[in-house]
Amino acid sequence: MSHPKILVTGGAGFIGSHVCVTLIEAGLRPVVLDTLVNSDPRSLQRVANITGVEPPLVRGDVRDAVALDRAFAEHGFDAVMHLAGLKAVGQSVSDSIGYYDVNVAGSLALIRAMERAGVRTLIFSSSATVYGDNQHSPIRESATYAAVNPYGRTKEMVERMAADLTRADQRWGIACLRFFNPIGAHESGLLGEHPHGPPDNLLPYVAQVAVGGRGHVVVHGDDYETPDGTGVRDYVHVMDVAEGHLAALRYAATHRGLLTVNLGTGRGASVLEVIAAFERAAGREIPVHIGPRRPGDAAAYWADVQHARDRLGWRARRNLDQMCADCWRWQLANPRGFDDPSPELTAKRLAAA
Ligand SMILES: NC(=O)c1ccc[n+]([C@@H]2O[C@H](COP(=O)([O-])OP(=O)(O)OC[C@H]3O[C@@H](n4cnc5c(N)ncnc54)[C@H](O)[C@@H]3O)[C@@H](O)[C@H]2O)c1
Repeated sequence: MSHPKILVTGGAGFIGSHVCVTLIEAGLRPVVLDTLVNSDPRSLQRVANITGVEPPLVRGDVRDAVALDRAFAEHGFDAVMHLAGLKAVGQSVSDSIGYYDVNVAGSLALIRAMERAGVRTLIFSSSATVYGDNQHSPIRESATYAAVNPYGRTKEMVERMAADLTRADQRWGIACLRFFNPIGAHESGLLGEHPHGPPDNLLPYVAQVAVGGRGHVVVHGDDYETPDGTGVRDYVHVMDVAEGHLAALRYAATHRGLLTVNLGTGRGASVLEVIAAFERAAGREIPVHIGPRRPGDAAAYWADVQHARDRLGWRARRNLDQMCADCWRWQLANPRGFDDPSPELTAKRLAAA
């Protein structure tokens, strides 16, 4: 395999587009399959602005067997990275069947298509939500499944499917990557996260407040048993997560069976620490309102990252200041995301900042 071709489902999305950058820079050829339900195809033009190569886009659904067979026949993939899915925890409660359909039935359809095409190397985007909210940190991969919402249970179900499959058929090599809290953006300022509607996650929200698009950040609870009372999470730079995908692919291409690893930094940061880091990056104050706790939020959790180091030789290299600086650069240059400027205008705004 000189320049392996990799199917990246969900490759136009936040993490998938950064994965494409890392794959191209490593000499691989990603092909994206995405419905664009939560992304913008211009993210792939930005991948081209960074790398010089625009990954081909197959506009299609992972649940669509015909579209999958066509893509496998046309491209002759060597491996698959499966990032397509729905990820809003709250929405997974109100539309659980929709989530099982896309996340579980979609993964099943993809695995069946891979089987038909004889492609048996898969990297799956799982999540720390499979651990639930009551584990001892640092959380090891051997912790019991205890997801507290349908989103987390969809990830658990796909992981279990992968475990059963690799047990029954030794030709498969699958890596399940449990992401903690991916944030940040590509350091160029050309590629980042642009949520449709109000952001679900802390950092895009903080970034929108910093740029003036929203008035203040609501901190959900400051009476947890943590050093400053606010929730503690393991934030990990999206480019570190992307590099984790490449390391997992290299591993899975040469090892059959199942590997399950955490992708985190191994250290927790509180909400107030993140806001302070963002204030340093942006050089401006972020107004904060303290609100009540949200039901189901854990006080604190972070990853045990030893397994990823031992098996993949991977560890997160970027710290919280860099995550915030990169996120700020992206937000400043692209306040309206991909709707906004041309890459030339983005470059001008960055030069002026
Ligand atoms: N961002 C996080 O905090 C986080 C944390 C843990 C795990 N994950 C997982 O990582 C993966 C990528 O997350 P992201 O943050 O880049 O989200 P994202 O929404 O930006 O990307 C997901 C992509 O999948 C596409 N998609 C959705 N349904 C599809 C379908 N049926 N067929 C084809 N494409 C479809 C969307 O259009 C989008 O481009 C998801 O599986 C998510 O569950 C994300």
